[in-house]
Amino acid sequence: MAIALNKLDKILKGREGSSFELIEVLQDIQRDYRYLPEEVLRIVSEKLSVPLIEVFKVANFYKAFTLKPRGKHLITVCMGTACHVRGAPKFLDEVLGQLKVKPGETTEDGEFTVETVNCLGACALGPLVVLDGKYCDHMTTAKLRVLIQEVRGNAKKK
Ligand code: FES
Repeated sequence: MAIALNKLDKILKGREGSSFELIEVLQDIQRDYRYLPEEVLRIVSEKLSVPLIEVFKVANFYKAFTLKPRGKHLITVCMGTACHVRGAPKFLDEVLGQLKVKPGETTEDGEFTVETVNCLGACALGPLVVLDGKYCDHMTTAKLRVLIQEVRGNAKKK
C-alpha cells in the first residue's frame, strides 16, 4: 500500500537539515500516520541529514513510537503491580477476547490496537486503561465493554 506523502511534506516544511528536530518530527509522523513507516523514515533521514541508523535507533528507543501500523483506536491496559492486583489481567482478557487479538496486535478491520504497559504512574487510580490517550480510571469489565461498544458505535456512524 502506498504511503500518502503529502502529510510528510507538511511535517518537514521548514525543518530540512534540522537534525536536532528529529524527535519532534517523529512525534508528528507518529501522530499523523499512527506509526513510523520505513519509507517515511528514509525520507526523514535524508531531509534532516541524520543517518538512517540513528533515525531507527530513536524510533526503537521510545515506546511511544511504533514501526508497525496501529489501529485507529489504541487501548493500553496497565499491567503494573498496583493495577495487576486490582484485576488488570481480567481487563486484558476481556479486551483481547472481545477484539480477538493478542497484546500488541491490531484488529483485522484496523480499528483497534491493544497494548500493555508496566505502569502509567497513576497507580492510585488503578486499575487503569487508556483509550486513545484518555485515562479511564477504576476500570471494571462492564465499563470496558461499554467503552469499546461506544467506540465501535461511533466508528459505524462516521
Ligand atoms: S501500576 Fe498501573 S498505573 Fe501504576
